[in-house]
Amino acid sequence: MRRLLTSLLLLLTQIHHAVTYTPLSDTSLRHLHPATKPSSHYPDPDFDPVHGALLAPILHPRVPGTPGHARVQAHFVAFVRAHLHPSWRLEWHNTTSTTPATGDAQVPFQNLILRRDPPWAAPGEVARLTLAAHYDSLYRPEGFVGAVDSAVPCAVLLSVARAVDEALTRRWEGMEDAAAEGLGLEEEKGVQILLLDGEEAWVEWSDRDSLYGSRALAEAWEDTRYESGSSFTTPLQAISLFVLLDLLGAAEPNIPSYFPTTHWAYRNLAKVEERLRKLGVLETEPRMPFLGESEKEGAQFFRGFVADDHIPFMRRGVDILHIIPAPFPSVWHTMNDDGAHLDVPTIRDWVRIMTAFVAEWMDLEGHLLPGKGKPRKKNAEREEL
Ligand SMILES: *[C@@H]1O[C@H](CO)[C@@H](O)[C@H](O)[C@H]1NC(C)=O
Ligand SMILES: [Zn+2]
Repeated sequence: MRRLLTSLLLLLTQIHHAVTYTPLSDTSLRHLHPATKPSSHYPDPDFDPVHGALLAPILHPRVPGTPGHARVQAHFVAFVRAHLHPSWRLEWHNTTSTTPATGDAQVPFQNLILRRDPPWAAPGEVARLTLAAHYDSLYRPEGFVGAVDSAVPCAVLLSVARAVDEALTRRWEGMEDAAAEGLGLEEEKGVQILLLDGEEAWVEWSDRDSLYGSRALAEAWEDTRYESGSSFTTPLQAISLFVLLDLLGAAEPNIPSYFPTTHWAYRNLAKVEERLRKLGVLETEPRMPFLGESEKEGAQFFRGFVADDHIPFMRRGVDILHIIPAPFPSVWHTMNDDGAHLDVPTIRDWVRIMTAFVAEWMDLEGHLLPGKGKPRKKNAEREEL
């Protein structure tokens, strides 16, 4: 990530999105994962920086092409296998590139794409909510951990996937059962998580020395054609919204609304935070809400944005919601960006806020609480890597 303020060239056209959006009930919001508040006696099972099963394995240097990087990749795959429905597809997008720090050597950059579509839908028919974060860490200073940058965002996204997974299964099985009785299967909404590689610059941020993984992926997806006659022409066009999380995990984040074109989505997210706070579901009590710019309008947007993994997608016309604090956490790109400087209640609140946002987007109201309907046998086969 680089502090970069350039003038925002987006038009102020309010694009109207025909997205069905059913707010979650208070009951659903009260039952979001993680349900329990932390205690000083028991470390958080997922997010404790030392013992947390989800986060702790990511809190090591993850420079592309090194063993630490490979271990984190294996951790992601193991998490998906252990905790997500077998119908999630895992796909690697691997490229190589030279970097200004490594001479002629080809450094591998490997994006991991996790995807779950409605079981009946053809690939070119599915509009996907796309949640992204980068998992590589800075090459220098040596030993840099990158806890907020971006180990925590990766862990938050995996936790959110697990939190909505059973509800997705219940909703889609219910729809298939209804279809078997003659009702149409209309919804073609999927969700995918992009764990992106090579975001960081190796020497100094430039168009060529940064965003190695996302540049390659956006280009590849622009060139991948679905069957003719599909609703979408390319996987890039099938992204309904690109939500990029970065630099999260420190206390008191202030997340601006960066883009007028997606301010409607920002407002949905801010609304969820506001409702969760009123219901007493969130643990933190910040001076200002995390998402405090719902009322922003018009000319106030012309202040710029932060260069990050969304850029190659935004340049190709994808709608972006960038969840990155301004100012950056004070530990940014220092050796202090480690587990000891994280605020675990803030991380848990991010999981709750993002889970509610994704659940609303995927129309999961009525499906988040277990115990409705009889379980069906799972027959999907896991995609082999
Ligand atoms: C891509 O990289 C991943 C992670 O290193 C590896 O497991 C996978 O086999 C690679 N895929 C291909 C096609 O090379
Ligand atoms: Zn960074």
